[in-house]
Amino acid sequence: MDETIEGSFQIIGGNFANAGEASMQLKSKLVELGIDEAIIRRAAIATFEAEMNVIIYAAAGRLQYYITPHEVTIKIDDMGPGIENIELAMQEGYSTAPDWVREMGWGAGMGLPNMKKNSDEFKIDSVVGEGTTVKMIIHFS
Ligand SMILES: Nc1ncnc2c1ncn2[C@@H]1O[C@H](COP(=O)(O)OP(=O)(O)O)[C@@H](O)[C@H]1O
Ligand SMILES: [Mg+2]
Repeated sequence: MDETIEGSFQIIGGNFANAGEASMQLKSKLVELGIDEAIIRRAAIATFEAEMNVIIYAAAGRLQYYITPHEVTIKIDDMGPGIENIELAMQEGYSTAPDWVREMGWGAGMGLPNMKKNSDEFKIDSVVGEGTTVKMIIHFS
């Protein structure tokens, strides 16, 4: 039997009031399915950082997840400015977050590195002026 559980959430740019909503929904689903706590923690961190980036940098985006008995796949795509230099953006501490975002406690430049660190497979694609797509897979064992 090959059963995939999937879900999708809209993320609205600038909507700090609902920040974390999409990642919370995925986390609840993983808890409900009885997935290992350490795995859930990694998925929650990675998803939350990706969701925050859509809220901070993009106009709108979407989180999609696919859970199989073996792994969870998380895709976040957005309509936004895109990333000109992905290699630079991936560096720890690199951030273009404006001051008002930093004042809210965001913009440490650790989001993308932590997404990669917490994923078993990590892929980021971006087109300047169009948007960014992040795909992360976390294996259950
Ligand atoms: N979805 C996105 N759209 C546009 N730019 C992004 C996106 N995600 C990340 N970036 C760029 O990559 C940089 C590094 O991202 P990240 O590691 O999450 O750190 P932070 O969000 O704290 O700046 C951001 O400052 C921004 O310039
Ligand atoms: Mg970030």
